[in-house]
Amino acid sequence: MSATTNVCVVIPAAGMGERLGENKPKAFVNINNYSLLTLAIKQVLKNKRVGHIIVAIPKDFESEALAEIDRAMRDENKKIPVDIVEGGETRTDSVKNALLALDQLDEFVLVHDAARPFVPTSVFENVINELDKGAKAVIPVISVSDTIKEITENNKIKKTLDRSTLRAVQTPQGFAREVLSEIYSRSDLQPATDDAGLAELAGIEVSTVEGSVESFKITTQFDLENAINFFNKKEGKDGK
Ligand code: CTP
Ligand code: MG
Repeated sequence: MSATTNVCVVIPAAGMGERLGENKPKAFVNINNYSLLTLAIKQVLKNKRVGHIIVAIPKDFESEALAEIDRAMRDENKKIPVDIVEGGETRTDSVKNALLALDQLDEFVLVHDAARPFVPTSVFENVINELDKGAKAVIPVISVSDTIKEITENNKIKKTLDRSTLRAVQTPQGFAREVLSEIYSRSDLQPATDDAGLAELAGIEVSTVEGSVESFKITTQFDLENAINFFNKKEGKDGK
């Protein structure tokens, strides 16, 4: 693949954010007046190779989503085609709907959660570089600092896992377009928490690249507080 290969980024943003408990879909929750969706799109737009974005949003959020996308493009001074699709019951359904809007020109597809708004550009580059080298599926990972144990049904320890072989998985997860379309069009498609899980089930080798602690996922109120602190610190450093 050449350095001009078109990259499409699919952003699942249709979740309800129940664990966050802000009474609105998580992607539309604000950090210092920026929605998580705007922040995530701004990070996506910083990558030159990205030529198309598809966002899966909750029903009835189209005009709000359009305004957030427009704001991100104005902020980054970059305009590329963006499709908006209605999400589904599960993340898997939302991604499946989004993939219907893929273009023939999209050779690589990266799926990136709106819930990880601070993903650094370097992580996109790591994923795209690996796809350039011919990988069919690539995920960013970080090592785990906690000791992780497997438990029994009665919450007793079954065993301690070898931490050196464990990784925490992030997004963007990248795929050759045909590979992702294939795994999502299977008739036995089951809901999965990440896209690589489906690739694994289909027997596709999944490569790993370096993720980033900055790409943390916002799930709970504690995460949101950390995100606000992180954002303020970053803005301070950037002199804004
Ligand atoms: N997502 C989606 N469609 C769904 C469920 C989730 O597009 N039906 C998206 C979310 O918007 C988020 C990402 O998938 O960007 C990861 O999901 P998660 O962190 O679980 O977000 P929510 O489902 O919104 O949160 P919760 O599970 O607490 O309701
Ligand atoms: Mg969820």
